[in-house]
Amino acid sequence: MATSKDVTSVRMRGSTGRILDLETPPALFERIPGATSEDEDGMSTAGVSTTGEVGASDAAVAPVSAPVDSATAPAEQAAMIRALELALRGPRPGVNPQVGCVLLSPTGERLAEGWHRGAGTRHAETAALAALADPSLARGATAVVTLEPCNHHGRTGPCSVALIEAGVARVVYAVADPGEESHGGGERMRDAGLEVEQGLLAGQVEDAIRPWLTAVRLKRPFVTVKWASSLDGRAAAADGTSQWITGAAARADVHRRRADADAIVVGTGTVLADDPALSARVDGAALFEHQPAPVVIGRRPIPEGALVHRHPHPDAVRRFESHDLGAVLHELYQDEIRTVFVEGGPTLASAFLAAGLADEIVVYLAPTLLGGPRAVLTDLGVATIDDQRRLTVTEVTRLGDDLVIVARPDAAAPTKPLED
Ligand SMILES: NC(=O)c1ccc[n+]([C@@H]2O[C@H](COP(=O)([O-])OP(=O)(O)OC[C@H]3O[C@@H](n4cnc5c(N)ncnc54)[C@H](OP(=O)(O)O)[C@@H]3O)[C@@H](O)[C@H]2O)c1
Repeated sequence: MATSKDVTSVRMRGSTGRILDLETPPALFERIPGATSEDEDGMSTAGVSTTGEVGASDAAVAPVSAPVDSATAPAEQAAMIRALELALRGPRPGVNPQVGCVLLSPTGERLAEGWHRGAGTRHAETAALAALADPSLARGATAVVTLEPCNHHGRTGPCSVALIEAGVARVVYAVADPGEESHGGGERMRDAGLEVEQGLLAGQVEDAIRPWLTAVRLKRPFVTVKWASSLDGRAAAADGTSQWITGAAARADVHRRRADADAIVVGTGTVLADDPALSARVDGAALFEHQPAPVVIGRRPIPEGALVHRHPHPDAVRRFESHDLGAVLHELYQDEIRTVFVEGGPTLASAFLAAGLADEIVVYLAPTLLGGPRAVLTDLGVATIDDQRRLTVTEVTRLGDDLVIVARPDAAAPTKPLED
């Protein structure tokens, strides 16, 4: 039976920028919602939960089939927390997921660890294998990985094969790989005689890499719709001016979130009204190393002198003279864009929401009143209260005088893949 010294507490920032608090009893695998399990002593092995954030972990979790009181169980759980911590060191933008891996000896000692540092570099599992003091230590070891080891030859070979060939005996992963080409590593390893378990801390890992998982599952970029609003829900004053509703801390947070996205999307209305630079800057000046691709959607022409034309990466600027958001997202996904940050005005924000294409909403709420007609959203097709678009709040943070509220659609009304 585990003791209090096995309890681990870790605070980390997830892929959507949200702080994840992991304060975990040494219970083993995620519980199937609604189900309970008991160990041989009749003690409940409660599912691991996150603390301190609203709605922290309500993700669907995978069924599990793990032994509940093996001697190495607390070590595997602690290793998964460490693997997630390592995963989140990897770059957020881009086509590859953030993945972490810890290798344990058969008695639960940590042997090596690794994480994926971006496209073209080693995957987490092979990085951990390469970090072993002696390759022979992999024989009989357990690999604890946040994502199912891949099963395909990309720029690197399949990690499932690397683990098999290294002599690893047991693999514990949190979340199944949804990739069309890369999934199936678990089955391949099982077929090769390895012991394979899925589901340890699945809810937390799911939460931390939700944008990548959503994009791959839905085959379109994960869409965050952001707006800044007065306390009375207005996006601009009566004359259309909206710079600035929020304070410096909130604007800095916007730039950090931009830098975590593959693309920033606006409508022509915002370009014509505000002439935004659509770059991600630190303190309004220096550029973040990663610059999301600026995307402008709409049929009206953009003035030649618009700031977006002077973007630091002019070749990255994308222009869609269309209102077909599905086609835009499809094309962006084909171009390896997995996350988009929509910063348009009320028209574009409402169009994404009405189409069921907004996976996350980030609202900066300023303690000011504007009144007047310029509400943050236009028509969402909600004709009656039964059609309201309920959300689950996942984060509330105070930034200076402002609040940032992050929410996502209720599980009862999930966002959509693209229509064929
Ligand atoms: N508070 C905030 O967070 C915030 C953020 C941005 C802007 N603003 C303010 O919002 C105002 C501009 O609002 P806006 O609504 O005009 O800006 P917008 O939403 O950025 O642009 C609207 C334009 O997007 C194009 N568009 C692309 N796809 C569309 C679709 N599926 N459905 C409809 N239109 C689509 C249309 O352009 P075409 O007509 O060219 O086809 C449409 O007129 C300004 O006052 C600005 O200061 C506020």
